[in-house]
Amino acid sequence: MTVLITGGAGYIGSITTRLIRSTGRGVVVLDTLENGRRKAVGDAPFVQGDVADTNLVERICKEHGVDEVVHFAAYKAVGESMENPTKYFQNNVTGSQKLFDGLNRAGVQRVVFSSTAAVYGTPTRVPVREDDPLSCESVYAETKLMIERTLGWYSKTTNMRSVVLRYFNAAGASQDCTLGEDWRHSQNLIPHVMKATLGFAPALKVFGNDFPTPDGTGVRDYIHVEDLAAAHVAALDHLKKGGESITCNVGTGFGTSVMQIIDATERVTGMKVPYEIVDRRAGDPAECYADASRINAAFGWTPKHSLDDIIATAYAWHSSHPQGHDS
Ligand code: WQD
Repeated sequence: MTVLITGGAGYIGSITTRLIRSTGRGVVVLDTLENGRRKAVGDAPFVQGDVADTNLVERICKEHGVDEVVHFAAYKAVGESMENPTKYFQNNVTGSQKLFDGLNRAGVQRVVFSSTAAVYGTPTRVPVREDDPLSCESVYAETKLMIERTLGWYSKTTNMRSVVLRYFNAAGASQDCTLGEDWRHSQNLIPHVMKATLGFAPALKVFGNDFPTPDGTGVRDYIHVEDLAAAHVAALDHLKKGGESITCNVGTGFGTSVMQIIDATERVTGMKVPYEIVDRRAGDPAECYADASRINAAFGWTPKHSLDDIIATAYAWHSSHPQGHDS
């Protein structure tokens, strides 16, 4: 029983790879290392390559006895996707379709796919449910939705079954501080909070405090990366038991505002977070947090980590990795 993990040298991929191995499953990681870190793969079997190389995918599956896949590999920078749509459609969509072709040739029929809450765009209501309207507001989100739909058709027309996991806001680092995000280029809130707190960057810019939310700042659903990893193991178990294809939100079900993140950081770290209020960022919804009842009902999965765990592990990672990652 071997799991092919595409993008397993990345932030969420590497932490999930380690957890999957701890369950006794064999793994093989496929990653271009364009954004991932070889060191993050550790001693797991590794192939440097592209999911778009169908022959390579088929060969890896046959040589390693692959019978299930977790597909992380993708570009994920929302802003970049709007400046360079071709790069995103070719890498994320065409690359995934070539991957699935290789899996079908090798007879691999169980896929867990890394998707995103960004497919909802500006939610029509919160908490967001899986059957709420989908309204992609970026090329990145559109690529993820196109891959979701491809998997949906494979479920109808082949023996492939899949679990689509729509991540809310992944954050934090491994509890032992050995795996985390390469935050040098991240545009996300928590890496920006940590950089400002540690003096690696100027004061945090809070994008607006005039939203219709309790304290006026944006509300999101921050999910610890280790809880996210556990959701992937639960998805693999579901498929292995013969479970049907399913799409699930992966979030805590609770909304947390920017100011609450700042307050939690000051409380947990004992440091001041320098910040300034600036104009809203284009495209930001006021609130977006998950209704996570489906994944709980289907897999029995619930998040185990608190917001303080997210802050504490993120702070430990950023303060011990000033370059953003291991050298
Ligand atoms: C969170 C909140 C900002 C930075 C994005 C992608 C989504 C997914 C997760 C991949 C918002 C505020 C942020 C800052 C701030 N990625 N903020 N100052 O936009 O919810 O989701 O990351 O799947 O696709 O869209 O995350 O961390 O950018 O913002 O005030 O310097 O923090 O306005 O309210 P977002 P984020």
